[in-house]
Amino acid sequence: MRHHQLADTAVSIIGQGTWRMGEDPTAKRQEVAALQQGIELGMNLIDTAEMYGEGGAEQVVGQAIQGRRDQVFLVSKVYPHNASRHGVVAACERSLKRLGTEHIDLYLLHWRGQYPLDETVEAFEHLRQQGKIGRWGVSNFDVDDLEELDDPRCATNQVLYNPEARGIEFDLLPWSRQRGLPTMAYCPIAQGGKLLRHAALQAIADKHGITAAQACLAWVLRQDGVIAIPKAVHPDHVRQNAAATSIQLDSEDLEQLDRACPPPRRKQHLAMV
Ligand SMILES: NC(=O)c1ccc[n+]([C@@H]2O[C@H](COP(=O)([O-])OP(=O)(O)OC[C@H]3O[C@@H](n4cnc5c(N)ncnc54)[C@H](OP(=O)(O)O)[C@@H]3O)[C@@H](O)[C@H]2O)c1
Repeated sequence: MRHHQLADTAVSIIGQGTWRMGEDPTAKRQEVAALQQGIELGMNLIDTAEMYGEGGAEQVVGQAIQGRRDQVFLVSKVYPHNASRHGVVAACERSLKRLGTEHIDLYLLHWRGQYPLDETVEAFEHLRQQGKIGRWGVSNFDVDDLEELDDPRCATNQVLYNPEARGIEFDLLPWSRQRGLPTMAYCPIAQGGKLLRHAALQAIADKHGITAAQACLAWVLRQDGVIAIPKAVHPDHVRQNAAATSIQLDSEDLEQLDRACPPPRRKQHLAMV
């Protein structure tokens, strides 16, 4: 497993997402098992949020990390409508309870809302002083948002990135790399949708004897400063995703993907899901 420095910690370059977990009680056992399988395979970063399953995903994560908290780098996110000075602290305490831990390693503002950034940052720093979070960061911030934030204590920006959503390559990615701000790529396999059936991706996968999802992850991770957080419940998917860290695409593959999914030529509105 390759690692990347995030919030002063070496984390697996492929982590585990949890959106859509904790929504269906009958799926809980499988979801817990998937996260535990991922941890055993070295994917030690787990990304969750109070939003996912309205707390349900954090409960799944809490169960999965019971007895192995020290093996996991935990990321969670606060809703923008909870991002006031007192709201952040209360939301974090609820998250800690659901996660069954005393400490979230990295706590993110899920996206920008009505509260001034200063107020949210003040609350994050308060939580940090109390030892309830290790570091803080943001999500769905474009260059202008990061410039307005202008805070070197921000440890990451989590944004949408995959071959069919390349807008950040034009400005946000180079901006972040220049400042040493790691990017967490969400939906790195485009939610397992039609992109995985794209002929170009299939051809690359066949050439390397890998799956289209693995080709997609290798493509996202082809550059420095990027960490991918695919979500997987199916055991084969978990295995494939963990193994994708050792796949290197060659220049012919990258050119083929550039033709199929061209890089941005101008500024694009930051895409979100
Ligand atoms: N900050 C934000 O605003 C934001 C927004 C969206 C997502 N996120 C985070 O990013 C994570 C990833 O995004 P996502 O869950 O939306 O999409 P994703 O990871 O791109 O795709 C997940 C889907 O792909 C399937 N899959 C996983 N591995 C596969 C493989 N090897 N081959 C084929 N299919 C595979 C999964 O199926 P199974 O589950 O059945 O295995 C699931 O249906 C989220 O879970 C969440 O933690 C953050």
